Amino acid sequence: MEHRHLNRHLKFWRLWAVMAAALVAQNVLAQGVIKGDPAKARQLVDQVCVACHAVDGNSTIPANPSLAGQHPEYTYKQLMNFKPQAGKPAERNNGVMAGMVATLSTEDMKNLAVYYAGQKPKPRAARDAALAKQGEAIYRGGVIGKNVPACAACHAPNGAGMPAQFPRLAGQHAEYTTAQLKAFRSGQRANDTAQMMRGVAAKMNDQEIAAVSEYIAGLR
Ligand code: HEC
Ligand code: HEC
Repeated sequence: MEHRHLNRHLKFWRLWAVMAAALVAQNVLAQGVIKGDPAKARQLVDQVCVACHAVDGNSTIPANPSLAGQHPEYTYKQLMNFKPQAGKPAERNNGVMAGMVATLSTEDMKNLAVYYAGQKPKPRAARDAALAKQGEAIYRGGVIGKNVPACAACHAPNGAGMPAQFPRLAGQHAEYTTAQLKAFRSGQRANDTAQMMRGVAAKMNDQEIAAVSEYIAGLR
């Protein structure tokens, strides 16, 4: 019974994800599939990005996201969002990354996105098994009764995401994931198409955020 309920719940949110994907499809089509030359990204990677994201994109510092294996369309979108476009303020506010993208061309951003997409993500392990267990229930079934959707519906059951609009989450630092969920909840991060993530995070409390972030860190 419980299981059937969970299944129905997941199906409902899958349907929602399909509709949400249709909503952003226009946006993605306009953007096109990212093509870039990873070799041309090497100089920037080696001289700039390496300091915080590591040469292979598997950041070892919890506040800095891992970029390895991320869909290039998502990475490209984030780099664009960190930079003010056509006189409009940046869609994603971060002082550090604003400085990093200031001098990058769209060509550089495409090359970097393709470079990191081609790096192999290193799996991580969750540190707190009990917390991760609570997080698994949220990731796979949402928070029933609070209308929090299953993360799996949009980010895939294994956390690999769904190109092009739903990013890979698996193996990400729990600290970074927690920070992003809180930023979506407060509206400090507001670059999610159709407010998809602000809608999700708005209904989550700190405990639920901590649990799902811990589960995601060990997801592979
Ligand atoms: C001084 C440290 C630092 C350097 C150098 C740096 N970054 Fe970052 N980067 C960060 C931090 C911190 C964040 C998280 C920002 C936030 O909280 O929104 C981030 C976020 C990102 C993201 C968003 C990832 C996601 O999952 O949404 C991308 C993409 C990125 N950086 C790419 C780069 C690239 C490419 C370079 C080199 C040109 C670079 N960064 C250099 C610290 C750095
Ligand atoms: C309806 C689809 C949908 C659902 C359900 C969903 N997400 Fe997302 N999520 C997105 C989209 C779209 C983005 C990309 C936003 C952007 O373009 O910056 C995203 C981005 C994120 C990010 C930022 C990743 C990064 O590297 O910065 C995190 C963390 C995240 N989601 C966690 C979750 C968690 C945890 C859940 C479940 C509680 C969840 N999401 C449920 C659509 C969804």
